[in-house]
Amino acid sequence: MKSLRIEAPAKVNLFLRAATLRADGYHELDTLFEALSFGDVLEFRARRDKAVRLSCTLKSLPTGPKNLVVRAALLLRKETSVSAGVDIRLTKNLPVASGLGGGSSDAASTLLGLNRFWKLGLSQANLLKLAAELGSDVPFFILQTPFASAKGRGEILTPWQSKSKFWHVLVTPRLHVLAKDVYRALTNEDRAAQPATGDALKMKTGVIKGDIADVGSRMFNTLERVLVRDYAVIRKLLADLTAAGAVRSMVSGSGPTVLGLASSKANALRIARVMRRKHPAKFIQPVSTSA
Ligand code: C5P
Repeated sequence: MKSLRIEAPAKVNLFLRAATLRADGYHELDTLFEALSFGDVLEFRARRDKAVRLSCTLKSLPTGPKNLVVRAALLLRKETSVSAGVDIRLTKNLPVASGLGGGSSDAASTLLGLNRFWKLGLSQANLLKLAAELGSDVPFFILQTPFASAKGRGEILTPWQSKSKFWHVLVTPRLHVLAKDVYRALTNEDRAAQPATGDALKMKTGVIKGDIADVGSRMFNTLERVLVRDYAVIRKLLADLTAAGAVRSMVSGSGPTVLGLASSKANALRIARVMRRKHPAKFIQPVSTSA
């Protein structure tokens, strides 16, 4: 194989409950991941030497050993004692550090892609273990499933089979928000205001049936409280999405992206048009659940 191209989809959390803060600094989660039809693209090409080289369409992104793609490739080589070199080309379509899981998905797709490209034959269980070493959201993308509920840091996953597809509109403001700071800003009051543990699973029936009203009424994100408290632009975008016709609007993951749940593809395209007129400088993208 001379080259391999693989997609790295975005995700949203339709439900995210952050319970206790664990001794290791992570929160015990109860969450529901949804993979989306939009994302980054990775291309792998063999090299004559043993270097791992990353190039990216987004010039501001570091391409050295700090980048999760490079870390994933090096971790895979270490695990399998492979010494082959590779050129990796990353086409970055997703906004960086936006709560859409772009970096995590790039890392997971690197593990999946190089496992095939280098014919390593690692099992899904093996890839999941490596993924968890790279970040809390990385294991979800190894499953290549449209929906999964998750516990622990996000790595104890139950994938679902569902034919239902949902449409959303993503809007990302230009805010520099780190996941670690958002989690750290959670107060006891935020935690007390959460739905009960297990509520992520209550969405399962509605998601499988494609019941938009039910899913909309159960969507929840504990971390939204922090972002709504701190940023007027988030409050404005949530209100604008609802005013533009979204069934429900919510912050995605640790933000700053907000998502509007649409009632149909036509509704999503209409909401995106309205939002682009109001917020011409922001990343605005209608998306559906991944195939
Ligand atoms: O695992 P990852 O590096 O993606 O997590 C980024 C940060 O988000 C962590 O350092 C932690 O502060 C926070 N986090 C958390 N609980 C989780 C996942 C992430 O507190 N379950």
